[in-house]
Amino acid sequence: MNIVIIGTGYVGLVTGVGLASHGNFVNFIDLDENKIKDLSSKKITFYEPGLEEYFNDDETFKRMSFSSDYASIEWDNIDIVFVCVQTPNNIETNSVDTKFLESAIKEINNVNNNDLVITVKSTIPPYEIEKVCEKVGMDSSKLTFNPEFLREGTAVEDFFKPDRIVLGGTDTEKLTKLKELYSGFDCEIITTDSISSQLIKYLANTYLPLRLSFVNEATRLIDYSGGNLDDVLKGVGLDNRIGQHYFRPSPSWGGSCFPKDLVEVNNFYDKDKLNLPLISNIINSNDIHADWTSENIKELYESKKLEGVVLIGAAFKEDTDDLRNSPTTEVFKKLKSSIENVVVFDEIINDENIVKFDYLEDLNSPHLFVLMYPVKELTLDRLNKIIEDSNSITYIPWSL
Ligand SMILES: NC(=O)c1ccc[n+]([C@@H]2O[C@H](COP(=O)([O-])OP(=O)(O)OC[C@H]3O[C@@H](n4cnc5c(N)ncnc54)[C@H](O)[C@@H]3O)[C@@H](O)[C@H]2O)c1
Repeated sequence: MNIVIIGTGYVGLVTGVGLASHGNFVNFIDLDENKIKDLSSKKITFYEPGLEEYFNDDETFKRMSFSSDYASIEWDNIDIVFVCVQTPNNIETNSVDTKFLESAIKEINNVNNNDLVITVKSTIPPYEIEKVCEKVGMDSSKLTFNPEFLREGTAVEDFFKPDRIVLGGTDTEKLTKLKELYSGFDCEIITTDSISSQLIKYLANTYLPLRLSFVNEATRLIDYSGGNLDDVLKGVGLDNRIGQHYFRPSPSWGGSCFPKDLVEVNNFYDKDKLNLPLISNIINSNDIHADWTSENIKELYESKKLEGVVLIGAAFKEDTDDLRNSPTTEVFKKLKSSIENVVVFDEIINDENIVKFDYLEDLNSPHLFVLMYPVKELTLDRLNKIIEDSNSITYIPWSL
C-alpha cells in the first residue's frame, strides 16, 4: 500500500520503517527539516536498537521518501495516512497540548481524496480529537484510530511482534483497509469504536505504572520490615495471577508516555461524578518513591563518607536516548540540593552535563556509583574496574 507517516519521532519512524520493510511505500513528513535532512541521508535521528539495520536495508530504503512539505505528496495515490505527532502535556494548563495534532489534521483536511484512510496513532484522550476536528472543520467520524503500544528500547521487536493491534472508528470500509495492512501480523486485531480504542491505550498506560508503583511501594515496605527484597518479590510474583514479568523495583518510573498519559487519565473525568482513588494517586506514589530513592542514596553517601555520587544512565530506562521525564534527572536535582559533587554518566547520550568514561577513569577518590537501570555487560565490566580502582561502592535501586 501507499502510506504517509506524519511525524518521524519514535512512533512514526519505527512504524514507517516497519511498514516499508513489509513491502509498503512510505512517505514520511516532518516539519523538522533537520530530521528530514538526516533521514534523507540515511541518518537515524535517535537511538533505538535494531532500527538502523532495517532503515538502511537497500530495498526498504528505496520504498521510503522524506519531506517537510505536505504538498510534495501525491495524495490521490495514498491509501492510509498515519498521524504520529507528539501529544505532550501542557504544563501551564495541565492538559493535553493538541497543537501538533491540530496542525497535522488541518493539512490533511485540505486533501481531496475521499478514500483516504486517516488514522491517528498519537495518544489522545477521549473527546479531545472531536475538539481538534471542530477547530479545523473536519468531520471527526472520518477518522480511524490505531493507538501505539511500542516500548522504546524494544520498539522494533514490538512493531514486528505486537501483543495486539487495536483499531478504532465507525467507517467499516476504512477499518477493513487497516486490517488488510496488518493482515501479515501474527496477533489478535481488536476492532472497536474510537472512544474504546483510546481507552485501551490509556488504561494500559495506567495499569503499567500502577504495577511499577506497587512494586516500589512493596520495596519500601520490605526495606522497612527488614525482609529480603528478592525473595519476597519472587514469592509474590510466582503466583500465576500476579506473574514475575514487569515486577521489578525501580528508582521511580518516567519516560515520554506514562507521566503525561496518567495526567490525562485523571483530567478527562469529572471528579464530582467519579471517584477513582487508586488511579488518581499513582503519580503521587511515584513522586514519594523518587524521594525515597534520593534519601537512600544520600544516606549511603554520607554514612560511607564518600567524595561524590555518579548516577549511571541518563535516559528514562535502558536502551534508549530519550531523556523525557527521566528519573535520573529527578534524582539528580534532589541530590544536588545537598551534595555538591553529583554527576550523570551515559555512554549513548552526548550532552555537556553528562560525563563519559574519561571523566570516571580520572577519579581517584571513593564515590557512590548508582546504577539507575541495567547496563550492557561490557560497560559494567569497565565500570566495575573503575569502582575497584577508586575504592568506590555501588548502589542498585532496582535490585536492593
Ligand atoms: N514514544 C513512545 O514510546 C510512544 C509509545 C506509544 C505511543 N506514543 C504516542 O505517540 C505519539 C508520538 O510520540 P513520539 O514519542 O513518537 O513523539 P516525538 O516527539 O518523538 O515525535 C513527534 C514528531 O512529530 C513531528 N511533528 C509535530 N507536528 C507535526 C506536524 N504538524 N506535521 C509533521 N510533523 C510534525 C515532530 O517534529 C516530531 O519529529 C504521542 O502521542 C505519544 O504519546 C509514544
